[in-house]
Amino acid sequence: MAIRNVVQIGDEILRKKSKPVREFDEKLWELLDDMRETMLKNNGCGLAAVQVGVLRRAIVLDVNHMRIELINPEIIDSFGEQIEKEGCLSVKNEYGYVKRPQQVTVQAQDRYGNEFEITGVDLLAKAFCHEIDHLDGVLFTDKLVKDYREPKAKSKKNKD
Ligand code: CO
Repeated sequence: MAIRNVVQIGDEILRKKSKPVREFDEKLWELLDDMRETMLKNNGCGLAAVQVGVLRRAIVLDVNHMRIELINPEIIDSFGEQIEKEGCLSVKNEYGYVKRPQQVTVQAQDRYGNEFEITGVDLLAKAFCHEIDHLDGVLFTDKLVKDYREPKAKSKKNKD
């Protein structure tokens, strides 16, 4: 395994649409292993292949102590909404609030090409959406909820 460089915002590759993974071979497994190592090294909880410069529809996640790999993921169902803070390993030192579904069901393949479905709520739903957006060239900074403040911060401010 090896740690790869994380592409930063401004690099046009982050705006490109990733292509489907067709070969579930050792090259893919090495990519996924490297992505996981790179994500963990950078204290991230999700990483898409494009973020290490590979335009393939592959994602690794580490959320709630769950190691998840999504190959060719599609959101097939979603429910509710949440507005939560997001950051991105490709957008260093910037955070913002984004509206996402509260619950998301994804259909994907594992590293061997087997199809499966997985449902995530809250943080996991947010992570699925954030990472799948990367596969279509979308960054969280495109979707910021302007002027959003956490309810707690808002009430505190109102007292001033
Ligand atoms: Co990201």
